[in-house]
Amino acid sequence: MASSTLTITDNRTDRTYTLPIEDGTVRSMDFRKIRTSDEDFGLMMYDPAFMNTASCRSNITYIDGERGILEYRGYPIEVLAEHCTFLEVAYLLLFGELPNEAELKNWVYEITHHTMLHETTKKFMEGFRYDAHPMAMLVSSVAALATVYPEARDIHDPDNRLLQIKRLIGKMPTIAAMSYRHSVGFPYVYPDNDLSYPGNFMNMLWRMVEPKYAANPVLSRALDVLFILHADHEQNCSTNTMRSVGSSQADPYLATAAAAAALSGPLHGGANEEVLKMLDEIGSKQNIPAFIKRVKDGQEKLMGFGHRVYKNYDPRAKIIKWTAEQVFEVTGRNPKLDIALELERIALEDEYFIKRKLYPNVDFYSGIIYQAMGFKPSMFTALFAIPRTVGWLAQWQEMVTDAEQKIARPRQIYTGQRTRPFLPMEERQSAVLTKA
Ligand code: ACO
Repeated sequence: MASSTLTITDNRTDRTYTLPIEDGTVRSMDFRKIRTSDEDFGLMMYDPAFMNTASCRSNITYIDGERGILEYRGYPIEVLAEHCTFLEVAYLLLFGELPNEAELKNWVYEITHHTMLHETTKKFMEGFRYDAHPMAMLVSSVAALATVYPEARDIHDPDNRLLQIKRLIGKMPTIAAMSYRHSVGFPYVYPDNDLSYPGNFMNMLWRMVEPKYAANPVLSRALDVLFILHADHEQNCSTNTMRSVGSSQADPYLATAAAAAALSGPLHGGANEEVLKMLDEIGSKQNIPAFIKRVKDGQEKLMGFGHRVYKNYDPRAKIIKWTAEQVFEVTGRNPKLDIALELERIALEDEYFIKRKLYPNVDFYSGIIYQAMGFKPSMFTALFAIPRTVGWLAQWQEMVTDAEQKIARPRQIYTGQRTRPFLPMEERQSAVLTKA
């Protein structure tokens, strides 16, 4: 009779072990029982880059990478992007259910009334160099919030946790906008509580001398949809960082700053900025075949393509393509779109990409929209960090309340030397000289 177990024979000892399988998974700790002797540490699992290791149980985001499916709390991303606002989706991710009208009104009020930064944080930001990268400013400023809210260290109090969650979601656009204003030398703009979440962000970015900023509704909605698409993506690099740093019971500002730092890398959220650089370098459609050849020869990467989990079209990229059409009706078509479309067409027909199941990911088209909306490429990753803060916080909250979680602490396979005799100074040789 079929049983949900795994039977393993250790050929070193001829012993057989039966391990339970739950949810298609075996527990790594069960392998520790497999030993050659009482002194033996037991078998470990070796999995650099967590290619096949589940680090948690989560009921927040579901991805089927083979079929290109993404759901938040069981709702398909396409449905949420069509019917919800970003703050509605934030509520869903954090609390597990869509808010009713009264709950949403209260939630929007709460977030809106946490958008202001303490003046010390503003002064702190004024100290950055004139040409600092917005993501570096954002990471440092989010960490600096820990200096303003020391009570955030009490992560075991649910009310206290919720207060910090509201503050972070409220203040993230303010920090991102101030980072941008700083980099162009404009005075900071304070939040306007009459505006929507994306509308207020646009106000803080672009208001000049007008007394009241009015965001274009199509662009504001497009930004909100992009925020929805970027809100969570289960155990990606930055979320894993959030959970890992949070597992030491560090406060949520410091954990979020660490997660944002992970996001900034070009293989993760920094890819949207890299896509624009790549399209600029390609320059025109006739240069695409030569570029693709360089990619296939391993000299370049096709940025915005490929994903650890998706081995099919990223469902977010499809919605982004559709959103781009709406945006371009207002802003005019970004000429880079034609290069991107042609790049995608050629890549999807090419054996190299087909064999490796490389499809456009969320970052392939998002930068083209952001640029058409008036954002400079160095701001793109900060635009990603604003909504992903919600995902980080939902995952952090889940981790903090999960009785099975402990401080994250992987094992290693030690490959260095052991217990060597100490060398007095006069007997040491320079490793560099020895090599030469
Ligand atoms: N261009 C060219 N070749 C690629 C690309 C790419 N963008 N992505 C993967 N490959 C190739 C690899 O060279 C490798 O080929 P090989 O088997 O001949 O060695 C194969 O496809 C598998 O790729 P891995 O790097 O092993 O896949 P991994 O899951 O480790 O990496 C990643 C995923 C980092 C996203 C990768 O596809 C990549 O670097 N893409 C470009 C950067 C990017 O767009 N990042 C954004 C990801 S989405 C996000 O984080 C929001």
